[in-house]
Amino acid sequence: MSITRRSVLAGALASIAAPAIIGRAMAVQAGGQLPIPPLVDATNGIAKLETISGASSFIDGATTDTLGFSQSYLGPVLRFKQGELARVSVKNRLKFPVTSHWHGLHVPAIMDGGPQLEIKPGRSWDVELPVSQAAATLWYHSHVHGVTAEHVYAGLAGMIIVDGAGPDDQILPSNYGVDDLPLVLQDRAFNEDGAFYYIKQGPALMHGFRADQMMVNGAVRPQASVPSGLVRLRLLNGSNARIYHLRFSDGRKFHQIASDAGLLGAPVSMTKLTLAPAERVELLVDFSNGDAATLLSGQDFNDPMGGGMMGGMMQGMMGGMLPGSPAPSELGDGEEFEVMRFKPDASKKSSVSVLPKQFEGAPQPDFDEPEVQRDFVLNMHAPGRGMGRGMGQGMGRGMGRGMGRGMGRGMRGGGVMGMMSINDGSYDPDRIDVKMSRGRTELWRIYADEMAHPFHVHGTAFQVVRENGRPVDFATTGMKDVTLVQGEAELLVKVDHEALDAVPFMYHCHILEHEDAGMMGQFTVS
Ligand code: C2O
Ligand code: CU
Ligand code: CU
Repeated sequence: MSITRRSVLAGALASIAAPAIIGRAMAVQAGGQLPIPPLVDATNGIAKLETISGASSFIDGATTDTLGFSQSYLGPVLRFKQGELARVSVKNRLKFPVTSHWHGLHVPAIMDGGPQLEIKPGRSWDVELPVSQAAATLWYHSHVHGVTAEHVYAGLAGMIIVDGAGPDDQILPSNYGVDDLPLVLQDRAFNEDGAFYYIKQGPALMHGFRADQMMVNGAVRPQASVPSGLVRLRLLNGSNARIYHLRFSDGRKFHQIASDAGLLGAPVSMTKLTLAPAERVELLVDFSNGDAATLLSGQDFNDPMGGGMMGGMMQGMMGGMLPGSPAPSELGDGEEFEVMRFKPDASKKSSVSVLPKQFEGAPQPDFDEPEVQRDFVLNMHAPGRGMGRGMGQGMGRGMGRGMGRGMGRGMRGGGVMGMMSINDGSYDPDRIDVKMSRGRTELWRIYADEMAHPFHVHGTAFQVVRENGRPVDFATTGMKDVTLVQGEAELLVKVDHEALDAVPFMYHCHILEHEDAGMMGQFTVS
């Protein structure tokens, strides 16, 4: 059955898996106006989504075959409200199954849109989601096992804004598209004919696929016109693998006001910020001096430790196949690249002029002393190669095997299943890895020795209490549902929503190539 699905998918997504002829001279349409996705209210009516294929224009004189929710690429921003039901209907108009996972939403697993909840071609999935959590920026994306990377890369993703029931929004810029901007950060690569370029083998599997063009809301390095005042930016790292190291070109200070699961207790002042795949932050940026600013990112050097040896060799060999510049990251020259620009417009008004002092609706940790402790070792190799947290054996051999199989089958998408694992088990839909008790606090220790992995848990938010033995400051991190683990992280995890054997919750690395390769497990909550 999965074979059929894969070959259908291979056909439908052929354009993004086409043999690569990389044109480095193509003209991308950079500097255009930042697209603002339509805002669709799911509280006072049903938000109707349709997964469709489309043609998008990112490059001069060429079109790109893309996928989207009700639009050619990406989807509308869905608006949910704390304390209300959100109603969504997803119709699948594609020729292959998709899912619609509500990333960061705390609902029972049967509503979560994970890999067991495939929407077959031509079918609809209607859900009523009880929104109990605080105000937050979440997202939704397809989550079909083995091809999540291809689905999201082609465009099956969108943002969700959860409005709070309390007064915080009155002291924050909340005028959508004006002083409250959704920003979906993604890197993409193109063939000469305009088709998306994507591979899932070799280094692109090992460190995750990183591309050479920066897109925000589906436009290449766009420009946003903003009020000359306080502006709220909702950033989502919707990239398959790239980690952003963000700052403004003029070094200006900004304030982080929210992380994955909602507001922080108070704004935190900073000049730079790291955003790993699937993480969200909300920022307040002051444009009242009228100066334009460019958002920059540093390169992503997240590579398996073998980078110097085998990884380096592979990269050398395959470097020519990988798309051109800011693949400086692939070449390692350490330069920053442009994400997008902001241009203040004095004729636009920002709804708030005073930086808020604190937020009432910030989600707070609510944990008991953990009675259960679990270890999760993220393995960059197939099972049965030794538990080796240590690099030695597991790494070397696993990588060799991964490469071999990837070469043959990686182009198809789905061909990487079984190549990576957690606790020496590659994702198996028929195996429940963890059984949790509802409402019971657990301590999860995540180990990522070979490179950094963004670890995500469905159905809840957790608190990162320690990283590599050092306590983590809750005031600056807040409640999270993804955290970048490099070395060792300890999380307090409690899940209040039910998940049964037939449709469990997932935990996984959110580098989508790793997830598809099996760095994922599933848990029940009862
Ligand atoms: Cu963003 Cu398992 O998901
Ligand atoms: Cu999720
Ligand atoms: Cu990973």
